[in-house]
Amino acid sequence: MTKFVLIAALGAIASVSAAGPDAVNLGEAGTYAILSKAGISTVPTSAITGNIGVSPIDSKAITGFSLMADSTNTFATSTQVTGSVYAVDYTSPTPAELTVTIGNMETAYTDAAGRATPDHTNLGAGDLGGLTLVPGLYKFGSDVTIPTDCKINGSSTDTWIFQVTGNLIMAANMRITLIGGAKASNIVWQVAGYVEVEAGAHMEGILLVKTKVDFRTGSSLNGRILAQTAVTLQSSTVTQPTQPDLRRILAQTADILV
Ligand SMILES: *[C@@H]1O[C@H](CO)[C@@H](O)[C@H](O)[C@H]1NC(C)=O
Repeated sequence: MTKFVLIAALGAIASVSAAGPDAVNLGEAGTYAILSKAGISTVPTSAITGNIGVSPIDSKAITGFSLMADSTNTFATSTQVTGSVYAVDYTSPTPAELTVTIGNMETAYTDAAGRATPDHTNLGAGDLGGLTLVPGLYKFGSDVTIPTDCKINGSSTDTWIFQVTGNLIMAANMRITLIGGAKASNIVWQVAGYVEVEAGAHMEGILLVKTKVDFRTGSSLNGRILAQTAVTLQSSTVTQPTQPDLRRILAQTADILV
């Protein structure tokens, strides 16, 4: 009986159809809202939901957060972070864990950048304004700009990877809106240059970025910032995505089996 329920549940998972490329494995980097190799600054007051961390730069490169060391000194806290703050100069095991996490971030970047046979090449000549983006692998040999609102449309299991050889620039007060059940955790922006989100704009997805990421005054992100140089925030809101549905399905399966 138990075995029968498990097989039925696995069948239900297998039958979920998903469009778009295979997911990018973020490894430990997927447990951070913001990760940077070169520093994270905020002009208060920002609001981050999720952990933040820096390595190989140390905690002196986390500025504007008024950090408070935990008594263990393995992490710190900040009133601007709902989560923990990690840096390579904190007590073991934090430095070694950060080294693994940064390695996972770089592997994820390389994976996303290396995906071949795009579904769309240079869509809109890199101007996504006004478009509704269906699931798929998108390749751009230029900057990508979002000068007006755009939509990302697909189911909760569909995936998107945007490969950008230039910079990703979003204009002030513009929004990406997810429709059809699309999830920020299934959207990856692989950017070889920098990301700039202007004042009041709202971005969605996982930002895997080779250089810096700037979020200007009052801007926001539903996703993660995984940057290989510095991250700057100005009264910005960064909220990590909710966990994938699969975990909930597995938890429910476990409940059935108990
Ligand atoms: C979103 O995608 C669904 C499924 O392909 C489609 O039926 C619907 O028309 C799309 N909505 C928009 C606004 O493009």
